[in-house]
Amino acid sequence: MKERLQALQAEALTKVEEAATLSDLQDIRVAYLGKKGPITEVLRGMGKLSKEERPVIGELANKVRETIANELDAKKEKLEAAGLEKRLEKETLDVTLPGRPVQVGGPHLLTSIVEEIEDLFIGMGFEIKEGPEVETDYYNFEALNLPKGHPARDMQDSFYITEELLMRTHTSPVQARTMGEYKGNKPVKMICPGKVYRRDTDDATHSHQFTQVEGLYVDKNVRMSDLKGVLNRFAKQLFGEDREIRLRPSFFPFTEPSVEMDISCKVCNGEGCSVCKGTGWIEILGGGMVHPRVLEMAGYDPKVYNGFAFGMGPERIAMLKYGVDDIRHFYTNDVRFLQQYHKA
Ligand code: DAH
Repeated sequence: MKERLQALQAEALTKVEEAATLSDLQDIRVAYLGKKGPITEVLRGMGKLSKEERPVIGELANKVRETIANELDAKKEKLEAAGLEKRLEKETLDVTLPGRPVQVGGPHLLTSIVEEIEDLFIGMGFEIKEGPEVETDYYNFEALNLPKGHPARDMQDSFYITEELLMRTHTSPVQARTMGEYKGNKPVKMICPGKVYRRDTDDATHSHQFTQVEGLYVDKNVRMSDLKGVLNRFAKQLFGEDREIRLRPSFFPFTEPSVEMDISCKVCNGEGCSVCKGTGWIEILGGGMVHPRVLEMAGYDPKVYNGFAFGMGPERIAMLKYGVDDIRHFYTNDVRFLQQYHKA
């Protein structure tokens, strides 16, 4: 029995020596030290041995068991260390390599322009207002002195949703909404940037959806020269201190008198070129003194209050400021176009 145990030990140790993986080791452990293994079997047969032999064989069996277990543990450690070594080698990272550049986004050119306009007017004491893009016929037209059937409604081809609801064609309805909110007894000084919609066929200068910024100042003693002063500051801040402005008489149903504002052409400095079509001036926005009817409908007494209003298109402003030749660039979102205007 002694020989049998020694032979088992030798056999097991050779196998441990040859084992190449952790699962081989586990197999050997089960085969030799498991409950159904040969050593357990020896121990079970001990009853048949003589009294003298029993402790000797018992001790030897335990020793063999221990030796095999120790060898298995040692080999296991060795295999694990080798595995880790291999993994580390395979997963080596060169931390000194330069990193890959990360693509960083930035605000859209239109967003930047609108924010620039907002900052400028906030600096002059205007607050920012918002209104719905799905607007009632009343606020979009009637409250702005454009009753049903008024020919000037044709100036803005509209997307109607129902008889009384449409996609707003301009941000001017927010004038009427804000005055209504202030209930006819408080000054109003607000601008409203937002999306507007017209039934236009898209081309280089038209888009069925674009942006406007509306401005309104109502108080007890507002003069045309206040409008001129505010617009002059706006034009110089956005287009450069060397720009000049001029106001031309125009017509809008919601202002009387109405004006359009031009700035002197930056390309030719007023000499006349293809950008300004030879006139030396470029049209930027419309405005005027708020029509008494508009004040009245919003609850302001036109004998006490008066005001000025204006409306501009940030796309047009961005196109002029940066030489963008097609309004569709703002909406097709080609990153090569947009990236040019990301500020560092
Ligand atoms: N709502 C006008 C448009 O879309 C722009 C405009 C002109 C707004 C004159 C005004 C204004 O407030 O006074 O063409």
